[in-house]
Parts: sequence; structure tokens; C-alpha cells
Amino acid sequence: MSTLAVYPGSFDPLTNGHVDIITRGARLFDRIIVAILVNAEKAPLFTMDERVEIATSVFESLPNVEVDTFEGLLVDYMERRRAQVIVRGLRAVSDFEFEFQMALMNRRLNGKIETVFMMPAEQYSYISSRLIKEVFVLGGRVHGLVPDMVEDRLHDKFRQT
Ligand code: PNS
Repeated sequence: MSTLAVYPGSFDPLTNGHVDIITRGARLFDRIIVAILVNAEKAPLFTMDERVEIATSVFESLPNVEVDTFEGLLVDYMERRRAQVIVRGLRAVSDFEFEFQMALMNRRLNGKIETVFMMPAEQYSYISSRLIKEVFVLGGRVHGLVPDMVEDRLHDKFRQT
């Protein structure tokens, strides 16, 4: 039986930490779906279409990575897609509590689904989408922390050079 994994998130925007986890997941599982949550934030910086376009472009060379969107409960989406594994990244101990709660709640909701935690390369262990947006908006450099396409889009959005 082939293993289908889902890597869910808001991806507003996709960071190199996400890319690192997805690339590792693509080596570990037969297929991995990058599942972007619709309406995760009331006012996302990137529209859903932009987030799908970015992820599709970044992973176009990895044939076992699919990009999709989902609404509602993650476990319901997993059931519809017949996926067995939720992949989540763990950067630091501070991530643990929330991730632990989600993993156990998802297990309670559907005991057949397993959550697998993966650690990104250490150079990405401190970055998050929220921090990227904050640093960029305040004029800081995010080069190397996000895919080039995300950096370009950030410049477009804030009309910086
Ligand atoms: O990128 P994020 O914000 O860390 O991703 C969080 C996400 C999308 C994985 C989580 O909010 C989620 O699964 N939402 C879908 C609704 C759901 O199933 N909630 C119960 C989770 S225990």
C-alpha cells in the first residue's frame, strides 16, 4: 500500500522552512499533498490563488508533491483524500504544546490517521511566515529565508526595490 501524506498549513507565505519539510516528506512518503487552509486568517497577505500558484511553481520539479486547498476539519479532508499521515514541522520546543494538542485532537477525531513530526534544517529553525512578513514590512532582508518567487511577490506587494 502506498502512503499518502498531507502537510497542512496556512502558507502565508511559503517559507524555506516549509520547503525543507516538504522536500524531506517527498523523500519519505509515496506522495505528499501541500494542503492550504482556506480562511485560516481573516486578512491573509497572499490570496489563496497566489499561495497555490507559488507552491505549485516551487514544487513543479517534484512529481510526488501535489498542491491543494481545504476547508473545514483536516481529518475530514484526509478521509476524502484517503490520506494516512499528517506531516507537521517542529522547529523548537515552543512549537510542541500546540502541535501536541492538535495531534491528539486529530487522533481523537480519527484514530486511523497518524501525525508525523519532522525537523527542518537548523538554519530554518527560527523562521515563520509571521516573522517573515513582519521583518519584510519593516524593511528587513528575507533573502534566503523564502523562495525567490515569494521574495519577488513581497516586493511587488509593497512596491520596494
Ligand atoms: O500554518 P498553520 O497555521 O500552523 O496550520 C494550522 C492548521 C491549518 C494545520 C490547522 O489550523 C488545521 O488543521 N485547521 C483545520 C481545522 C481543523 O481541523 N482544526 C482542528 C485541528 S486539531
